[in-house]
Amino acid sequence: MSLLNLPRSFEFGVATSAFQIEGAWDADGKGPSIWDTFGHTPGKVLDDIPGDVACDHYHRYPEDIEIMKWLGLDSYRFSLSWSRIMPDGVGRINQKGLDFYRRLTDSLLDAGITPNATLYHWDLPQALQDRGGWPDRDVADWFAEYAAVAFDALGDRIGRWATVNEPISTWVGYALGAFAPGLRDERAGRQAMHNQMLAHGKAVQAFRAAGSPGDIGVVLDIWKRQPATDSADDRALAAQGEDDGFRFFLDTLRGGGYSDRLRERLQAEGTFPDVHDSDQEIIASPVDYLGLNVYSRVVVNSENQDSNGWAESDPPRGGNFLDDGSEFYPRAVYEALQMVRDDYGWNGPIYITENGLPDGPADPGADPLHDQERIRYVGGFLEWIDRAVAEGSDVRGYYLWSLMDNYEWGMGFSKKYGIIRVDPETLVRTPKDSAHWYRDVIAAHHASH
Ligand code: NOJ
Repeated sequence: MSLLNLPRSFEFGVATSAFQIEGAWDADGKGPSIWDTFGHTPGKVLDDIPGDVACDHYHRYPEDIEIMKWLGLDSYRFSLSWSRIMPDGVGRINQKGLDFYRRLTDSLLDAGITPNATLYHWDLPQALQDRGGWPDRDVADWFAEYAAVAFDALGDRIGRWATVNEPISTWVGYALGAFAPGLRDERAGRQAMHNQMLAHGKAVQAFRAAGSPGDIGVVLDIWKRQPATDSADDRALAAQGEDDGFRFFLDTLRGGGYSDRLRERLQAEGTFPDVHDSDQEIIASPVDYLGLNVYSRVVVNSENQDSNGWAESDPPRGGNFLDDGSEFYPRAVYEALQMVRDDYGWNGPIYITENGLPDGPADPGADPLHDQERIRYVGGFLEWIDRAVAEGSDVRGYYLWSLMDNYEWGMGFSKKYGIIRVDPETLVRTPKDSAHWYRDVIAAHHASH
């Protein structure tokens, strides 16, 4: 693998999120989040195992930072737990929660690792859900209040911020019922997505008002749709999938508002949200960078749709497969970078804020530490990033998802994305082959400049 086009300043990192690794769900004054409630509700997550302990990172973060140092990371992307900092979502501040993030970020800085903090990675305070949650327009002000508290307390030591991670998660939580809080209401889902973008814009404005020295951006997941055939149905479905996903977010962030095509469809369905005149300008408050999570693409076949409208051609095209039968398509990251430039005129800084692969399907004979497929996967994506940089994309860094096996939402601990294995019983951390490999990639990059 040759990554010769990546400049010395290119940052290699790993990513995690608060709920997925911290545990300590009710320690030191933390309030519950919607994911605590969801995980405690029978039948919502696999095997009914909640995230109460997760990787116990809240207590073991010094050891985890030692691992990051061993890896040679330039940067670490994590998220703040809103209800650890503000147990009721607004008002009262939990000093012990802030202290945890101060200790964490100080230790990172001491280790020479740049902290990159996401304000919201899916764990809304339950207290705010009880007041209406994301479908309630007031949430945008609640979020801005929390963001201002975080900027005030941590803005001097965190140089890179993201407002929200993959805002499509609100659709999954409020319309599809598969994520917390488990609602199935499309109108509420559209309103939740709109309000989350408004919340994003207000947080960016709060960041500017606070005069914080760092950068702020937003993290979107890009799943480009490829029609399986040239049929009108496949093409229409592919376009609709993109409209409902990343295009909605990019259209509004880049100032264009709802596209006519999306607006007309939602109005016909009766799901178009309540939008105020001033919203669009707030949502489009300029960001310093775009964060893109890229894992693959979706091949759309109108004759083979699941209940969520996700459709894979049968068999997927490309001829390049992973052990679980899904397509291996590292070019997805290159296409995502082209798309934000060509369709949205974005020539500014970009971070690939997530990319990674779960362990393969359980094979009784397989050793989970010998994860050669993850190495092939990440290596493939890095090569396509290198090529995009050679062609002028301003990609500043790459965050592998994830540092360690962790709580994969509704799948519980059954889907393991870590380059560090976490023993489910003892929580002992052990590097997989991919961790050794990634360490070598980083060292080689540092040595080559
Ligand atoms: C998307 C999310 O941001 C993260 O929380 C999740 O674990 C990974 N991608 C893998 O599914």
